[in-house]
Amino acid sequence: MKSIKLIKKILKQNMIFVIMNNKFIKDILDANLNLSWKEKLAVKFTNLFNKNKFFHLQYKKITMFSVERGINLYHLLSQVINENILGEIVELGCYEGITAIIIRKTLDQLKSKKKLHVFDSFQGLPDTSFEDGEILKNGLACTNKESVIKNFEKFKVKKPVIHDGWFNETLNNLPKKICFVHLDANVYSSTKFALEKVYPKLSKGGIILIDDYCGRELDKPHKRIPGVRKACDEFFKNKERVKILISTNYDGFNQGFIKKE
Ligand SMILES: C[S@@+](CC[C@H](N)C(=O)[O-])C[C@H]1O[C@@H](n2cnc3c(N)ncnc32)[C@H](O)[C@@H]1O
Repeated sequence: MKSIKLIKKILKQNMIFVIMNNKFIKDILDANLNLSWKEKLAVKFTNLFNKNKFFHLQYKKITMFSVERGINLYHLLSQVINENILGEIVELGCYEGITAIIIRKTLDQLKSKKKLHVFDSFQGLPDTSFEDGEILKNGLACTNKESVIKNFEKFKVKKPVIHDGWFNETLNNLPKKICFVHLDANVYSSTKFALEKVYPKLSKGGIILIDDYCGRELDKPHKRIPGVRKACDEFFKNKERVKILISTNYDGFNQGFIKKE
């Protein structure tokens, strides 16, 4: 009897291990490498001394994302799915679709049939304002819808519903109910507008994960992308407190999130 219990316990633990296997995050980021031979050499060399620099070189090309941030995305999304929160999944600012692929793969692993909607201008960032500081510029991260489709095909995952255009033109097409939002739009006005639109549709228990919420000094915005924190802090002033998720590996960006009460 005892041994049956033990076997059951081991099996259960193994199941959890299989379900929680998030190695695909690194594979997705790795597979998108598009480095010159000089950069590849630099990756090898710097890796000998400093793991952080390695990641910096490795991921700067195609995605602004990191493994740590991917793991946070994976765990928060898993939470919403496991808790059966009502609604669909939304990404605001998908660029070439890499984080959207992490979302889709996570949903597939958890056998979730929820729809994924991604929104982007595909013309890069809109005009910035004084809240955004000096570095962000209009047109940065410009790409096209086809690169998202190509990347989804490359990873053999079901394509998302792609909403092509500026948020103020497309966010009227948000799903009626939302359980999870990945907000990655960099700019103050985009972040504020997106929050105003998605929050009312977010189910109780639903999560908004905010990329680039703060810098290494956790009580301050990141110097390069200051507008995101300003927009979030203003929007959530009398609502949920934005909690910080340490996700820095090279560039000092940390995520924030709220779970709707
Ligand atoms: C940091 S990138 C997203 C990166 C992506 N999530 C990833 O990690 O692969 C920010 C994206 O937000 C989009 N964006 C910012 N403001 C926008 C707006 N007002 N309307 C539509 N797209 C916007 C930009 O076009 C850009 O592709």
